[in-house]
Amino acid sequence: MNDSVTPRDFARHRRLRRTSALRSLIREFEVSASDLVIPLFVQEDLNGKEEIAAMPGVYHYGLDELRREVDELVQLGVPGTILFGIPADKDDLSSSAYRADGVVQQAIRQIKADHPDFLVMTDVCLCQYNPSGHCGVVRDGVIVNDESLRYIAETALSHAAAGADVVAPSDMMDGRVAAIRATLDENGFQDVALLSYAVKYASAFYGPFREAAHSAPAFGDRRTYQMDPANAREALREAASDVAEGADMLMVKPALSYLDVTYRVRQSVNVPIATYNVSAEYSMVKAAARNGWVDERSMVMEMMTSFKRAGADFIITYHAKDVARWQAEMGR
Ligand code: PBG
Repeated sequence: MNDSVTPRDFARHRRLRRTSALRSLIREFEVSASDLVIPLFVQEDLNGKEEIAAMPGVYHYGLDELRREVDELVQLGVPGTILFGIPADKDDLSSSAYRADGVVQQAIRQIKADHPDFLVMTDVCLCQYNPSGHCGVVRDGVIVNDESLRYIAETALSHAAAGADVVAPSDMMDGRVAAIRATLDENGFQDVALLSYAVKYASAFYGPFREAAHSAPAFGDRRTYQMDPANAREALREAASDVAEGADMLMVKPALSYLDVTYRVRQSVNVPIATYNVSAEYSMVKAAARNGWVDERSMVMEMMTSFKRAGADFIITYHAKDVARWQAEMGR
């Protein structure tokens, strides 16, 4: 064996990794702040802001502080938000969800008055607004599907009337996309877009969010309406029916453990797809970073890239502001 002989019958993959210019020339997927949407929690009757314990850097905002935060996001180049409300009062019919002067409705008006071009999406759900903490109406311990639809549609309509660009139902009741689309169209809101949380799994990764939104179910769990994490083909059925009902865009949620699902949904429909990088996915990164165990910035960018690679057109993430800040530092 002559060890000075270099065999020719293998590929030189390293040639194109040799310099930074070459690497960036052949890069297949890139993440920019313009692909990101930041969730914001707006709380009725709160002055100032309160940090969410398990989500360092994420806050409950009163309307005054929300105004300041959105100014900053616009400055940094974050294109939009998805709003979640924490109402002062809950009742069985979730009436604070669709009141014209509900906290989300007020927040939409305020943001649109300050920054008409800042994209405002809204989470449409009942769970924060009723004492059961379930996403639909409860009758005799059962989350009833069809009766829930009118309250969900009413909520979406109130968001549209306040000026939302996109309504995003997260309740997982069947038929809600059709119900919302019909209600919006009947009321002259043909141009308000619908982003369906079409593929939403019953996930342990929502833990910190439920603490933040005070929306943990008072009894049972969400497994009669959210999907079983063990199912992938079922995601394609959910996606197909929401497209048929008129969804403009679909979401897969959570993001990290469901990259394969995002990929499969991407192959099976042609509408834009989002993935939601949920609360516990954020908390895990923050906790490890605070312990000095990981490099937060590299890890977050790697995750964001993986969402794009899986086929997401945009990403809903609590890291959006940090990513925008990092990009601003690099001169974008
Ligand atoms: C409520 C809702 C949830 C999330 C978004 N909307 C929680 C749930 O379904 O229990 C999760 C968001 C997150 O964990 O970041 N309908």
